[in-house]
Amino acid sequence: MCEPEWPQPGRERMIVPAPVGWYGTGMADPEPALFGKLDAGHVMMMGDNPALPRMPAAPKLLDFFRLRFSDLTGRHLLTSAARALAAGQHEKVVMACLLHDISNGCLVRTDHGYWGAQMIAPYVSEEIAWAVRYHQPLRYFADEAVGYAYPESYLRFFGADYVPPDYIRQDADMAKAHPWYMTSRLVTIYDTYFFDEMEAPDPEMFTDIIGRHFKEPEQGLGFDSSPSAHMWRSAIWPNNFL
Ligand SMILES: [Fe+2]
Ligand SMILES: [Fe+2]
Repeated sequence: MCEPEWPQPGRERMIVPAPVGWYGTGMADPEPALFGKLDAGHVMMMGDNPALPRMPAAPKLLDFFRLRFSDLTGRHLLTSAARALAAGQHEKVVMACLLHDISNGCLVRTDHGYWGAQMIAPYVSEEIAWAVRYHQPLRYFADEAVGYAYPESYLRFFGADYVPPDYIRQDADMAKAHPWYMTSRLVTIYDTYFFDEMEAPDPEMFTDIIGRHFKEPEQGLGFDSSPSAHMWRSAIWPNNFL
């Protein structure tokens, strides 16, 4: 039996931007106007948005690199991981570098290390997810003894007078005293923008490392009922109304 076509031809699907994307930007609240437009010719966006490349039915990690990540973050993740690999770092560090800003690439920016760690937790070792979580607070604190200076990019992003909030300082202190500290610290060491120095590597070069360190679910990311499956589905369908 064929599924009925939805929406019926001629009906426009309207996109209500997610609050985390527009609150505080000066953009007018889009909800009232879009609610007011609902009629026989207008419904809300659900399912595959034709403006985005279509994802496979059972998406794998690299499909998100190819079809969903913002350009800059995608290249940043690939170059960070390639630099860690070229430096001879352990594969768990390479894998953490490859994933560290995944939330910036396809989900939300604010508190990206924490979101990203939760998103990948069912599929990687606890140590890799831990390294992704704590790279965010550790970025703000130099540790010259292991070769990490305060990032020059943060001086440009935030200004020299920026002071991170208490929860960032507390989490960085905790991470520094943890046995996995260097795994996360190495992520921050390769967490720079290398675009001027190297071309973005082909994502395929990480296929084997992903195979050893990332458990791709048979049903595809988003469809395996894991505790973070909804986060992957949100990346597949970022414009769904509900
Ligand atoms: Fe980051
Ligand atoms: Fe980064």
